[in-house]
Amino acid sequence: MSAKDTTSVYDYDILIIGSGAAGLTLALKTADFAKVAVISKGELSQGATFWAQGGIAAVLDDEDSIEDHITDTLDAGAGLCHRDMVSHVVENSGKCVKWLVEQGVPFTTISPEEAKEGAARAPLKPDNLAPLHLTQEGGHSHRRIIHATDATGRAVFETLANRAQLNKNIDLFENRIAIDLITRKKLGLEGEQCVGAYIFSSETGAIDLFRARFVILATGGASKAYLFTTNPDGATGDGIAMAWRAGCRVANLEFNQFHPTCLYHPHAKSFLITEALRGEGAWLELADGTRFMERFDERMELAPRDIVARAIDHEMKRLGADCVYLNITHKKPEFIKEHFPTIYSRCLKFGIDITKDRIPVVPAAHYTCGGVVVDKMGRTDIPNLYAIGETSFTGLHGANRMASNSLLECFVLAFSASDDIREKLPNTPLTTDIPKWDESLVTRSHEEVVVSHNWDELRRFMWAYVGIVRKDERLQRAKRRIELLQQETQEYYKHYIVSKDLLELRNLVLVSQLIVECSIERKESRGLHYTVDHPNMAANAIDTILDPHTPPF
Ligand code: FAD
Ligand code: SIN
Repeated sequence: MSAKDTTSVYDYDILIIGSGAAGLTLALKTADFAKVAVISKGELSQGATFWAQGGIAAVLDDEDSIEDHITDTLDAGAGLCHRDMVSHVVENSGKCVKWLVEQGVPFTTISPEEAKEGAARAPLKPDNLAPLHLTQEGGHSHRRIIHATDATGRAVFETLANRAQLNKNIDLFENRIAIDLITRKKLGLEGEQCVGAYIFSSETGAIDLFRARFVILATGGASKAYLFTTNPDGATGDGIAMAWRAGCRVANLEFNQFHPTCLYHPHAKSFLITEALRGEGAWLELADGTRFMERFDERMELAPRDIVARAIDHEMKRLGADCVYLNITHKKPEFIKEHFPTIYSRCLKFGIDITKDRIPVVPAAHYTCGGVVVDKMGRTDIPNLYAIGETSFTGLHGANRMASNSLLECFVLAFSASDDIREKLPNTPLTTDIPKWDESLVTRSHEEVVVSHNWDELRRFMWAYVGIVRKDERLQRAKRRIELLQQETQEYYKHYIVSKDLLELRNLVLVSQLIVECSIERKESRGLHYTVDHPNMAANAIDTILDPHTPPF
């Protein structure tokens, strides 16, 4: 059946692309006053949110303060955070946590024994709940991370997804991939505004037209640009690529965060070992049992992530080692099993009993600190197009995101965007004069292997040339290779019917190109961007902003 025979047109007030923490929160907030569609490229659960372990940073404890959370965030961000955005997010943290508790997220509470021992603080006392347990992570000067054991993301996702499924104003579409945004400018109409998107169904092959008054990119990050990552397969930077093609600026994509501790095992694909393990006392050691973090930072294992990941990378290269080890065997087995049940059982499947054995770990690409440039309300450069969550660049994270600030950012920016949309909705008509997708010039490909080869090649050289430690020459090498992949992918896209893999490759090649350009532009070492050719930090902290109207390639 040809795709064009099956296309449909859908009309909504709000089209949200992405069903992670950011997208679902915005859907639930806006469903009070609008008809909402949520698009997800796989099953609803397939984003990074479902896999989040450690928790959500928020100021809830009397001994903690907004000012301290702001200071810690600024410190981790190595001078590049936007202070007003940091204040906005941190000041709204309590409100968002209260909302999550009201939605029914089953956060871990402190046990009577823990309360007696005074080991955990008693932050928020929602009705009928014991005080929530607060854990600790790198860069935080206080215990301020609420969590649902070591599977916080799953608890948040399931609660919000259940609510969304029950909400009559929300329609959820699975296995639908947004290809490109539609703007009035691209249609040759007056008054620039985003008015919808073309959406590919990976089940039927149809490319449908979704028309909407407001469009939100909540598509997550781009860590799949790297060979080794903690992220699920869909983290291909689709929102960043779509926004760039539509005419939005992007910023600071050189700051891709590498999480220090991903499980190192030939059969364990992308399994994170939460930083909360270090927060609860686990330490890093070499094969011979020597601890090494004291040589790198006085905060040892709880230094910000860029420092810990670089220290591990340094030690692995120095010794030619395949991995380092995380050791929590000095804690009571009951404590470990109670607080880290997911990690305990997953490691056990690979023959590692974390109550007795050290865990082999390596750094892996984890989080995209840069993204689509937005303001405090999540507004991009194009009217009525918003970007929230990991796909956006708000200025919160600076040169290095502090642990557990990203879920928080998803909630706060979803709240802000909802407020802004509520105000504008009554005066925003739907644009209906939009053509359907035209597939008349493309044919079915018989060479799909090209897509998987290019995908593999890209991720390998991004890891080798644009990784934890960078060099001008290697960045130039990556630039040349990406240009070739870009040409080939464009040719392929022009001639053949789209598929999920092709769409993702097209986006990943573009976002990798933007990552490399941002990395080349930054002639200093700051936070996550460390280059041996420019090892010092420049006096002035400046964002790397790329503009599609004056493209660097
Ligand atoms: P995601 O949750 O990634 O969702 C993206 C959505 O967009 C998905 O539904 C996807 O299907 C959809 N999508 C993407 N492209 C398209 C397209 N073209 N068309 C249609 N749909 C599309 N952060 C914390 O703060 N605390 C933690 O403890 C924590 N732990 C983490 C552990 C792991 C293993 C990982 C990978 C990340 C962790 N993070 C943590 C980071 C955090 O989970 C993410 O930054 C956050 O969940 C991103 O949420 P999001 O809604 O922006 O995107
Ligand atoms: C973790 O649990 O270590 C991840 C936390 C985060 O990425 O914020």
